[in-house]
Amino acid sequence: MDFEHVLVVGAGQMGGGIAQVVAVSGRHVSLYDPYPGAIDRGLGAMRKSLEKLAEKGGADPDEVLARVEPVEELVPADLMIEAVIEDADVKQDVFRRADETLGEGAILASNTSSIPITSLAAVTSRPERVIGMHFFNPVPVLKLVEIVRGRETSDETAAAVVALAEELGKTSAVANDFPGFVSNRILMPFINEAVWALHDGVAEPEAIDTIAKLGFAHPLGPLALADLIGLDTCVAIMQVLEEGLGDEKYAPCPLLREHVEAGRLGRKSGRGFYAYG
Ligand SMILES: NC(=O)c1ccc[n+]([C@@H]2O[C@H](COP(=O)([O-])OP(=O)(O)OC[C@H]3O[C@@H](n4cnc5c(N)ncnc54)[C@H](O)[C@@H]3O)[C@@H](O)[C@H]2O)c1
Repeated sequence: MDFEHVLVVGAGQMGGGIAQVVAVSGRHVSLYDPYPGAIDRGLGAMRKSLEKLAEKGGADPDEVLARVEPVEELVPADLMIEAVIEDADVKQDVFRRADETLGEGAILASNTSSIPITSLAAVTSRPERVIGMHFFNPVPVLKLVEIVRGRETSDETAAAVVALAEELGKTSAVANDFPGFVSNRILMPFINEAVWALHDGVAEPEAIDTIAKLGFAHPLGPLALADLIGLDTCVAIMQVLEEGLGDEKYAPCPLLREHVEAGRLGRKSGRGFYAYG
């Protein structure tokens, strides 16, 4: 399968990054997001990222962006990659509508961080062609795609998206369909514990992050990473882990919830555990 035309749903930090790498690979991308200004912000972020990469020999930004077409509704394509907010009801609604719009041979993929793929496949008539394609942030830079097979995902579907990930310059690792899959089952308790350390007064944010960076050789400390992911997204993922795995050890620290309630969502809102210019 060539996936010459890809529909990306959601133009936030992940949807924009996914649209970018797909367009860089020479494919036509339709980008949908119903929220005012979201597409323009997404295209602006893509241009910034492409210009930076072009300085290091990357593709011509104008040529890449010419392959990204904003659309006002879901359109037929060979593949949909959904990257809307981490909310099961919103994602199920997108999958229901995509199932009605995209041809029956098309594959429907989700970039969800934690929501079981089987629950998205269940609202479609093609569960064998529904799969998780979990990219990492920032998408143009990080090499991993966690491929998540739902209960009914076919071998053909899995093989086709693994091949696509490779063509996008990524390395894939396949996981089965558990809440949070592999990546966030490991990462979120780590971030949450760092927030608890801050909450308990063990250390200031800078000290917590320095310890993780220099002590564990992580490129970013857990609090800076949470700001990059988005604190609202972190809370949503932890809730899926807590409910899905039935263990309150995954419950988000109250300090994390407080930040979200105060609108301090991390980099995307200008303030989280740190302030951004
Ligand atoms: N942030 C990360 O580091 C990261 C990493 C991997 C996966 N993810 C996952 O990617 C998805 C998107 O996360 P993000 O960080 O890009 O969030 P974001 O808040 O930056 O963007 C979400 C986008 O979804 C749009 N949206 C909301 N409802 C929609 C709908 N019904 N149809 C179309 N668009 C809609 C919003 O307008 C917004 O532009 C989530 O499932 C998240 O868990 C995030």
